[in-house]
Amino acid sequence: MTQAECNPAARTIASTQSEMTEIILPNDTNTLGNLLGGRLMHFIDLTGAMAAYRHSRTNVVTAAMDHIDFIRPVQLGDLVTLRSSVNRAFSTSMEVGVKVWAEHTRTGEVVHVASAYLVFVAIDNLGHRARVPEAIPSTPDELRRFEGALRRREHREAEAVRRRQAKLASVAQEES
Ligand SMILES: CC(C)(COP(=O)(O)OP(=O)(O)OC[C@H]1O[C@@H](n2cnc3c(N)ncnc32)[C@H](O)[C@@H]1OP(=O)(O)O)[C@@H](O)C(=O)NCCC(=O)NCCS
Repeated sequence: MTQAECNPAARTIASTQSEMTEIILPNDTNTLGNLLGGRLMHFIDLTGAMAAYRHSRTNVVTAAMDHIDFIRPVQLGDLVTLRSSVNRAFSTSMEVGVKVWAEHTRTGEVVHVASAYLVFVAIDNLGHRARVPEAIPSTPDELRRFEGALRRREHREAEAVRRRQAKLASVAQEES
């Protein structure tokens, strides 16, 4: 495979789609027999990283995980399926969306239990940030997520500025 084939200028969003299924075992649960929130976040991070790897074909690090709502508990013995894809690529970062479903093995009922957006940054073998290909949406859903990703990036940047200002104000107050 040539360098250009490994590192094209653009990739389709469909080519980044990733999926992982886990069975929930006793070690994954709390004292009520429900999946631990932290364990679910770990699964979300891993499945998100798969889409980011498929898009960038480099090392990636998680820069941010947005707010997550745990909509329904997942129980011991359930099958948890996570699906991810890159929503949009920027310069060196990619927003990835991850959606999670739980399947009750006896009844076959499948319910949506959580969704999350993560930002991954591509890192080359020298540890420097690396440019990523453009992500090309093809379907109406992909286009909706692609447009939403830009709004969410602007929101994250505004939030980061707000947090920095709040921190500076609190330091100034402590020093006065
Ligand atoms: C993520 C990281 C590489 C960013 O490096 P940095 O030198 O601060 O880079 P910059 O501020 O110039 O931002 C680089 C890109 O990351 C994005 N980014 C950085 N911090 C971010 C955050 N908190 N949320 C969302 N995006 C972020 C920027 O928007 C920018 O994207 P772009 O190149 O597509 O425009 C660095 O903060 C880091 O290594 N963090 C630790 C990551 C880690 O250990 N994760 C957990 C284990 S994998």
